[in-house]
Amino acid sequence: MKAAMTTQAGDPEVIEIQEVATPKATPGQVLIRVKAFGLNRSELFTRRGDSPGVVFPRIQGIECVGVVQEDPSNTYAKGQQVAAIMGGMGRFFDGGYAEFTLAPLEIVFPFQSSLSWEVLGAIPEMFQTVSGSLNQALEIKKGETLLIRGGTSSIGMLSCQLAKSQGLTVVSTTRNPDKKQALHDNGADHVVLDTGTVRDQVREIYPGGVNKVLELIGTATLKDSLKCIAPKGVVCMTGILGNEWTMKEFTPMGDIPSLGRLTVYMGESKNLSKELLQEFIEEVEKGAIRLNIDKVFRLDEVPDAHRYMEANRAKGKVVAIT
Ligand SMILES: NC(=O)c1ccc[n+]([C@@H]2O[C@H](COP(=O)([O-])OP(=O)(O)OC[C@H]3O[C@@H](n4cnc5c(N)ncnc54)[C@H](OP(=O)(O)O)[C@@H]3O)[C@@H](O)[C@H]2O)c1
Repeated sequence: MKAAMTTQAGDPEVIEIQEVATPKATPGQVLIRVKAFGLNRSELFTRRGDSPGVVFPRIQGIECVGVVQEDPSNTYAKGQQVAAIMGGMGRFFDGGYAEFTLAPLEIVFPFQSSLSWEVLGAIPEMFQTVSGSLNQALEIKKGETLLIRGGTSSIGMLSCQLAKSQGLTVVSTTRNPDKKQALHDNGADHVVLDTGTVRDQVREIYPGGVNKVLELIGTATLKDSLKCIAPKGVVCMTGILGNEWTMKEFTPMGDIPSLGRLTVYMGESKNLSKELLQEFIEEVEKGAIRLNIDKVFRLDEVPDAHRYMEANRAKGKVVAIT
């Protein structure tokens, strides 16, 4: 089979398109004929050698969609449409950047859909992250206000649509004035230009603060996001677009406003269910949710897809088809 193999830690050039042996499924594993996969920021960290415990060479890819080729446990029939996500995929065992991948049964989710593979490829990890952050971590409710920090990211764009569909008012941020209209077109009620601080602009719109913040930039802006919340407001850090993992100084009694709450979301396949995934796919089929797919690459263009993501040129999800 053809695979995009990360041969060692480094720049996108370390990903080589190679012919490798197609793996064989043993009981408990499903061999998936990969049709498409979303590309994820965490895969850039892994490629650079920043994911602890990852050994190269490795076929990366923390998610994929495709059809069952072989399932020795007979849980799924050959040809069943499936998604596979996380659980060490593309990090501790070979992942989705290939024509075939082997996934443990517990990270395989069956679905039925007539959507194109490139659209389906955008869904699993993005939906799991957004749904888990909004519904499980932030526990959003109709009528609330939500600030999305890092609004033009694929996670930010889908979060805005899901929050709007659940009856929230959304403030979304970008650092780039040219992307403001895209945020409005995606449904944001207010768009704020992020210069590193947005507190004053947010307080101008909502003097009492917002109920919830989805923090996708991370520690670089977290303290400022905490300044945006109303009493008992919640900030959930889900992303680390700012590339700073550790906070230099943090004073809990001071940086977190009194009664404010800070949480994080680190999604896993266990945060997704096949029912939730199927429901979401049907929302996309009906046109109730519009996925922002920015660019579709081919499997042999995965190094270019990594360069594209690293250059922050995307205004939505980057996908590859095999
Ligand atoms: N916790 C989880 O389970 C989980 C799962 C999946 C993803 N994530 C995280 O969620 C975040 C979003 O992922 P994604 O794939 O949706 O990202 P993405 O689509 O690649 O995001 C791209 C956008 O991020 C913004 N950005 C890039 N670098 C930045 C910086 N240094 N400071 C501020 N903004 C920056 C840029 O927006 P502007 O130019 O418009 O400002 C850029 O257009 C990532 O940190 C990812 O690792 C977390």
